[in-house]
Amino acid sequence: MGKLFICDHPLIQHKLTYIRDENTNTKDFRELVDEVATLMAYEITRDIPLESVKVRTPVAEANGKMISGRMLGLIPILRAGLGMVDGILKLLPAAKVGHVGLYRDPETLQPVEYYVKLPTDVQQRELIVIDPMLATGGSAIMAIEALKKRGCSQIKLMCLIAAPEGVKAVQEAHPDIDIYVAAVDDYLNDHGYIIPGLGDAGDRLFGTK
Ligand code: URA
Repeated sequence: MGKLFICDHPLIQHKLTYIRDENTNTKDFRELVDEVATLMAYEITRDIPLESVKVRTPVAEANGKMISGRMLGLIPILRAGLGMVDGILKLLPAAKVGHVGLYRDPETLQPVEYYVKLPTDVQQRELIVIDPMLATGGSAIMAIEALKKRGCSQIKLMCLIAAPEGVKAVQEAHPDIDIYVAAVDDYLNDHGYIIPGLGDAGDRLFGTK
């Protein structure tokens, strides 16, 4: 079973409270999501392997560590996932970015793929699928499926807030995937909103409400 990591660093939790606040305007919301994404990038990369290197300081030779050339890819799920990309790229500037677009079929209510554009070497990359709100889990499950179908195997999922229902659904569908969240909230309401959550992440990020 994939692990669930709750990123409980005080800075993340402090900023998340402002993000939740209905009085936070679009500009501040966007900046705070960006900052939390940077802090979560720090947590999600905790296990990336290092290799030993030598470096000359002005006075002597030193043994140092460097990230061992691991190639990363960020896969935001459109559209709310876009809000976390720049924040992660601040720490991982060499990462490539692929996009997955899904819409909900009005009849079946199931997510349907409408856009997938990935780096050409995506199979060699360690991927972070990004979706701020893990609600039913349907979109994340389908985005991960889209990646696995194309030969990707090293995948993590990063979300701001998850509903317990979403965590369970992803863990059942993809037991190999670790999930990183800033909070797990109480439940999903009948309209598919996470409670207490933060409302509609896409609308709040892009000011479309
Ligand atoms: N998507 C959102 O943006 N918010 C929710 O609460 C659930 C899904």
